[in-house]
Amino acid sequence: MDIELRGITKRFGEVVANEGVNLSIRAGEVLGLLGENGAGKSTLMNVLCGLYRPNEGEILIDGQAVTFTSPADAIAAGIGMVHQHFMLVPVFTVAENVVLGVEPVGRLDRLDRAKASAEVATISRKYGLEVDPDALVETLPVGVQQRVEIIKVLFRAADVLILDEPTAVLTPQEVKDFFEVVRALRDAGKALVFITHKLNEILDISDRIAVIRGGRITGEGLPRDLTPKSLAEMMVGRPVSFDVAKAPFNPGRALLEVRDLTVLRDDDAVAVDHLNLTVHSGEIVGIAGVQGNGQSALIEALTGLRRAAGGTVTYDGTDITHASVRARHRAGIAHIPEDRQKSGLIPKFTVAENMVLDTYYDERFSRGPSVMWDHVAEKAAQAVLDFDVRTPSVYTAAGHLSGGNQQKLVVARELSRETLLAIAGQPTRGLDVGSIEYIHKRLVEARDTGDGVLIVSSELDEILSLADRILVMFKGRIVAEFDTGAGPVDKGAIGLAMAGAAA
Ligand SMILES: Nc1ncnc2c1ncn2[C@@H]1O[C@H](COP(=O)(O)OP(=O)(O)O)[C@@H](O)[C@H]1O
Ligand SMILES: [Mg+2]
Repeated sequence: MDIELRGITKRFGEVVANEGVNLSIRAGEVLGLLGENGAGKSTLMNVLCGLYRPNEGEILIDGQAVTFTSPADAIAAGIGMVHQHFMLVPVFTVAENVVLGVEPVGRLDRLDRAKASAEVATISRKYGLEVDPDALVETLPVGVQQRVEIIKVLFRAADVLILDEPTAVLTPQEVKDFFEVVRALRDAGKALVFITHKLNEILDISDRIAVIRGGRITGEGLPRDLTPKSLAEMMVGRPVSFDVAKAPFNPGRALLEVRDLTVLRDDDAVAVDHLNLTVHSGEIVGIAGVQGNGQSALIEALTGLRRAAGGTVTYDGTDITHASVRARHRAGIAHIPEDRQKSGLIPKFTVAENMVLDTYYDERFSRGPSVMWDHVAEKAAQAVLDFDVRTPSVYTAAGHLSGGNQQKLVVARELSRETLLAIAGQPTRGLDVGSIEYIHKRLVEARDTGDGVLIVSSELDEILSLADRILVMFKGRIVAEFDTGAGPVDKGAIGLAMAGAAA
């Protein structure tokens, strides 16, 4: 089955999410759809799977124009989508979820469980989608839940499978297995659309690649004719450099020493479990791990946002285990938080106000009870220049900037003052390659000038390109350590540790 999208335009009020998109999807082929956050990938595929009606354009299946008024129409035509956020019922079994809405019915109108399980097992075997049909979905790791979503689509006899950023929730090993499934589906004659913002993945799995930027297709081609560089340029709209230039590794004294740290979540479950780590001056320590292994709680405890339930945190020789956020900040700890909207910025405040959120009270900006706004604006203007924050003015509300520029604003505020230690959680999540490149550069600069830098990221490639030392966090503990100075590190070994193999 071949599909042709012709001139698809989709608007949300003022926002043009897709504009005049032409794209073909063919049986027996993996089409890689690459684009940065907000480029319009999900919208385009939601049009194809019947969730949205396009404002303009048409969809042709094997040359025939079709109109979908609901996802049920698209499924009936053989098009199924696995969404970024799964839509399974946690308290149902795998088989119950798969057959939901199209149940095989037995005697007395009861769900025929045995039949449902058997059908799931058949599909599972055929494509290597390993899963227990009778397991409760809520007990399954996300990687397995994803297989359930795929089986669900296959159960509905889809010939076209749209996979929206499927690897975001997977460890590197799981990605490998997942790619095997994708290839099996393709070899069985299915058409697949694989959505991602990751350059190496798209080159690995695709038979053909299309790049989307600002709602338009900006490039198309075969993997053999494309490189990460050329793809990045199509994705961002300008040349991008990948090499993070770093001065030779020359660590100094221990700046941050974490001993036996235990941190509880809000529900009192253990998030960080007797964890030990050290960050030296002049080094970048990267914590790799699949999301949800205690990384957020660790950062919160280190920056004073969450109480330590046990252990000690020493910074530059002083015990700060129970110090306030402000005390840590004043002592020279910069914090680039994981969630810039929630704890990095106040979206309604201007760029200038956000620039001094945590320093407005100091003598540079305040005289007695009054803030000297002209000084603030001056400092903000300089930081905006130094850190390449694209904003109409320093009086623009921070919430109006793009994600990348909001993050650069946070980085500008945190790194444009005297610091000794920078702690960054997912510093580039959801950002375009250009902003990523920039933020990486500034973090490396902080390290080269003698700061200690601690980065937590679930993007292994980010950790690999930045860190001097890599720690792997699993279930609240550091389970493995890799030294990047001692030659190339074994990505497979890191991936295994991320999956808990070393624990
Ligand atoms: N339901 C919606 N309402 C309003 N705007 C939306 C909606 N869905 C997406 N958008 C906007 O459309 C653009 C494209 O979004 P999306 O398709 O989700 O991008 P991607 O999947 O490539 O990250 C973005 O600017 C986004 O904010
Ligand atoms: Mg999306």
